[in-house]
Amino acid sequence: MKFFLDTANTDDIRKYAELGLVDGVTTNPTIVAREGRDFESVIKEITTIVDGPVSAEVTANEADKMIEQARALAKWADNIVVKIPMTEAGLKAVSVLSKEGIKTNVTLVFSVAQGLMAAKAGATFISPFVGRLDDIGSDGVKLIKDLRTVLDNYGLKSEIIAASIRGVQHVEAVALAGSDIATIPAGVFGKMFKHPLTDNGLASFEKDWAEFEASQK
Ligand code: E4P
Repeated sequence: MKFFLDTANTDDIRKYAELGLVDGVTTNPTIVAREGRDFESVIKEITTIVDGPVSAEVTANEADKMIEQARALAKWADNIVVKIPMTEAGLKAVSVLSKEGIKTNVTLVFSVAQGLMAAKAGATFISPFVGRLDDIGSDGVKLIKDLRTVLDNYGLKSEIIAASIRGVQHVEAVALAGSDIATIPAGVFGKMFKHPLTDNGLASFEKDWAEFEASQK
């Protein structure tokens, strides 16, 4: 499973990209607004840090305006993916853009029907929101499993990005469910390195080694 970072914070992206662990980045208007920086400059900077896909979202609601914004965004860098909301107008835009070779990520997917429609429209990526489904008492991970089955049943090529990831257990569960990608907030990504037994094991190795070295003097 590929790891994308779900952030527009270039310090975090740089830090984890240096480890060779970042396959791409997703942003949305909320995430970009949080950085308090100019949209174009932050997205362009991210595209220079990672080689993989960088999602930048349109803000228009009508198909024609989304298409216009998407064409402009796609010119910013070769690895731009245009994020389009899962609406009727959004899928109209995705159909046009996919024929032009512009990569798209259909966002705010909450059902198998929505994911299937986005895939048939030619979306490069589809983003089911796991955490937000869990928030309303639904099962986000089950949606990933079901979409995996449906895309495989019909040989549909869109890649699943498990989005709205809230913790390490979500990452593990969507990997088991067959997601192609998880897009992970930097805070959750940092926690994936850690396990208390790793810390305990390392502390005891260090203590035992120090005692052994002292005994050799
Ligand atoms: C996906 O690409 C979105 O940016 C993101 O995962 C939304 O997550 P949230 O539910 O934590 O806002």
